[in-house]
Amino acid sequence: MAYETILCETKGRVAIITLSRPDALNALNTQLVGELAEALTGYDRDDAIGAIVITGSEKAFAAGADIKEMAPKSFMDVYREDFAANWDVAARCRKPVIAAVAGYCLGGGCELAMQCDFILAADTAKFGQPEITLGIMPGIGGTQRLTRFVGKSKAMEMCLTGRMMDAEEAERSGLVSRVVPAADLLTEAEKVASKIASLSLPAVMMTKETVNRAYETTLSEGILFERRVFHSMFATEDQKEGMEAFSEKRKPNFKNR
Ligand code: CAA
Repeated sequence: MAYETILCETKGRVAIITLSRPDALNALNTQLVGELAEALTGYDRDDAIGAIVITGSEKAFAAGADIKEMAPKSFMDVYREDFAANWDVAARCRKPVIAAVAGYCLGGGCELAMQCDFILAADTAKFGQPEITLGIMPGIGGTQRLTRFVGKSKAMEMCLTGRMMDAEEAERSGLVSRVVPAADLLTEAEKVASKIASLSLPAVMMTKETVNRAYETTLSEGILFERRVFHSMFATEDQKEGMEAFSEKRKPNFKNR
């Protein structure tokens, strides 16, 4: 499938999607989000893929939703089309999705990165929710996800002022899992993605589903959910293989699907 706003490649069991609207710092418009959704859905269904990386350019992961596309819209336009309702494209993926972020990661770009399972940041990354400076507010989950990642005080300050966070502050406050030198970002992202993709896919997917449950439920319900999913893993061939391989002091040969 030929896309115009994203580039797709696979390396072994890892799919890499590169946001590619260089003239607009990868701003998310309807076309880009549509193409990203289609690519992600395809990889999610593809047995040959075990993990997905979303990245941008050296200058920008994405500088937000496309302001020029949004500018002429009226309240009735956005309300009637329920604008951005289906922009949770990465959050809908069942396989792990890693955001590899360099440069600007702002507004809808930061919201897209936060939909991913974790964010690996280059030391050049800058995160922010500058929508308030445009007379609007985040609309793809920013007020909710950023608050869960960094806590109310910092999220409130960032959403109310539009202040950007550098990579070091983002790591310190729990927004990103790790910061790496910009030159190593893609290599590191591919390395961690291929490690995940080499493991038991059902175990990976169920673990992802269970960690995400922590954001949606109480502690006791979450722990019960975890235990039930944990029990169900004993029905998989990969559980037998993983434990036998440990006893036999060899590498497990997971079915990966
Ligand atoms: N939408 C559309 N175009 C954008 C864009 C965006 N979000 N961000 C940058 N661009 C375009 C610029 O208009 C410019 O295009 P032209 O050359 O045609 O003028 C090009 O990308 C390069 O940008 P700059 O010249 O501004 O680059 P810079 O290095 O001087 O500044 C920046 C970089 C600080 C990121 C600046 O571009 C900027 O502030 N961008 C907007 C950031 C923003 O406000 N994001 C939030 C968008 S709203 C949103 O996301 C809502 C939501 O939650 C749904």
